[in-house]
Amino acid sequence: MNVTSRQFIENKFDYYRWMLEEAPVCQGRLSILHVYFLAGYDDCVSALRDPRLVRNRTTATGGGRFPFPLPKGLTPMISSMITNDDPVHRRQRTLVAKAFTPRALGKLSERIESLTHELLDEAERRNTVDLIPAYSLPIPVTVIREMLGVDEADMPKFRSGLRALSEGFNGWTLLRTLLLDMPRMRSLVEELIERKRSAPRDDILTGLIQAEADGEKLSREELVSMAYLLIIAGYETTVHLITNAVLTLLQHPEQLEALKADTALLDPAVEEVLRYAGPVHGTKPNYAVEDIEIRGARIPKGAAVIPILGAANRDPAVFTNPEVFDIHRPPKKQLGFGHGPHHCLGAALARLETRIAIKTLFERFPNMRLAVPAGELELQSMPLWHRYERLPVVLR
Ligand code: HEM
Repeated sequence: MNVTSRQFIENKFDYYRWMLEEAPVCQGRLSILHVYFLAGYDDCVSALRDPRLVRNRTTATGGGRFPFPLPKGLTPMISSMITNDDPVHRRQRTLVAKAFTPRALGKLSERIESLTHELLDEAERRNTVDLIPAYSLPIPVTVIREMLGVDEADMPKFRSGLRALSEGFNGWTLLRTLLLDMPRMRSLVEELIERKRSAPRDDILTGLIQAEADGEKLSREELVSMAYLLIIAGYETTVHLITNAVLTLLQHPEQLEALKADTALLDPAVEEVLRYAGPVHGTKPNYAVEDIEIRGARIPKGAAVIPILGAANRDPAVFTNPEVFDIHRPPKKQLGFGHGPHHCLGAALARLETRIAIKTLFERFPNMRLAVPAGELELQSMPLWHRYERLPVVLR
């Protein structure tokens, strides 16, 4: 099974069904990496809590952090907290976590709401728009930009760098990404940190430069990787949760009507979108520090294991009629934000942004519809993600 292939990306839910029924532990490829993929909900949850599966490849294999040698300056781009284990991971996460608690985010609601209205004022003039650049993208990008304290004028540089990176982990573009785009992003992030050092402000990056945990500050390399991870995470993910939420609701008009009639359904609706059409379908690789066995399959020391969250979220052993989108589902923990020590740090922020984004959108444009047949919408060629290229809609 090659999850990088177009065949897989376009038919991922069929593959998931097959895995859940026939091959809950399945060997395959993710770009250049040979991987053991897990599909079952319980297997994914256990693996993400299993101390024998670690994020730091060096711990498990004795080799480098990446399957092949990388220029030294690029290490921070692949070794952020998401690829570290405790105690390093815990120390790094503690330093940034307080900026993302629901309480810290409470004061953001008003800002997000006014932003959604500004964007819709602009979109309304055109009436037919691609909702991604017009709405789903600028919401999370503006919010994370303001939280981190990145100036608006710097954003186009980050944006083109990030676009290149997100397109660049496939086939031959991998080399271009490693040699060109990553170094460029690194120097952008370094420049930003230098500016914060000389002109501190009330934002997360300044906070990270000054913060200490267990008497230790973040090293320069750690700072670069943390800033990079937050920019990427804030930029790449929520845009597709908002997009997928709008699309899925438009495809299920009776549920959209129920949602419009009762805002208490907003939170369950966002959870159900995360389960049914969440944007992130797999975690980072987890490496076995010893031989382990999962459902009778032997996974040798050093091998990479990836829980497929998108498959686990459709496991019939946990979710009744998993292929049905149902915002009235009794609450059960979906895995769209991962699980265990690396559970998404930005989950509360992503939920808040998405809830406000869909509420404002459907309140202002209750008759909004797709501008093209849903079958014509194209998925991005990104393995283990579920993201669309465009979402053309007619607002009125
Ligand atoms: C981790 C999903 C938004 C920051 C994760 C993981 C998932 C995920 C599945 C676990 C990955 C793994 O185990 O390898 C999502 C989704 C989002 C979203 C679906 C939006 C809909 C955000 C935002 C931020 C963020 C807005 C912050 C700006 C992070 C960080 C981690 C993480 C820092 C690593 C945590 C750690 O290693 O302890 N996210 N994410 N995410 N996410 Fe998110």
